[in-house]
Amino acid sequence: MALFERDNDKFRPDLGSNALSVIAIENDFVEGTYDKLAKVYDVMFGPILHPGRLLALERMGISPGNRVLEVGVGTGINTPLYPRACRVTGIDLSASMLEKARTRVARKGLTNVRLLEMDAAHLKFPDETFDIVYAPYLVNCVSDPIGVVNEMKRVCRRGGKIVIVNHFRSMNPVLSRLDRWLSPLTVHIGFKSDLDLPGFIQQSGLRPLSIEKVMPTRLWTLVICSKD
Ligand SMILES: C[S@@+](CC[C@H](N)C(=O)[O-])C[C@H]1O[C@@H](n2cnc3c(N)ncnc32)[C@H](O)[C@@H]1O
Repeated sequence: MALFERDNDKFRPDLGSNALSVIAIENDFVEGTYDKLAKVYDVMFGPILHPGRLLALERMGISPGNRVLEVGVGTGINTPLYPRACRVTGIDLSASMLEKARTRVARKGLTNVRLLEMDAAHLKFPDETFDIVYAPYLVNCVSDPIGVVNEMKRVCRRGGKIVIVNHFRSMNPVLSRLDRWLSPLTVHIGFKSDLDLPGFIQQSGLRPLSIEKVMPTRLWTLVICSKD
């Protein structure tokens, strides 16, 4: 698969290192950034990220009674999209983002959704609690992407699905450089633009069932994995 042809990535000499991004961030920084963004998040990142949210929901194939964990639920923008017959738990680090989510859930009368303040790298759930563990636009926001995926795997039941939709560093030579160059700037609006997908898959030990670009822009990638 072209996405993993790393030997040919001569234009990305840093691929030999374990670093997934040029940027290292701490939870305090992320929390502070999202506390500030909470008021404008839905306007800034609502419509633009929606095609990926809709595609992920369609591919997830949620069945009635499924227990779904949304990691990094933010302002709860996905919460009205889930079928009412599944039980959704949304967690987030930012109290301000969660406050928005709580208002949305109450306004829409979503009795199947519960919201909890929690760090994705230290989930307070027993092993194998959920049928589907979903991270929409999260893994390039967190301080420790691999620690977060390890927790997502732990709380997903055997045979369950782990679903990630995210912007990853482009495989196009020019755009790849641009992603890396922009990352120290984009981090101030909540995300690293240069998270390396092949390195992320390799280091996380995830075995994707499918990797699909989100149309029409192809800026975001949907990764679906099964926990075996
Ligand atoms: C880009 S927003 C995505 C929100 C929503 N899922 C969506 O589809 O728009 C990323 C969210 O992840 C949260 N986040 C970042 N690091 C986190 C962590 N370590 N644990 C839990 N949530 C985290 C942020 O507070 C923010 O609300």
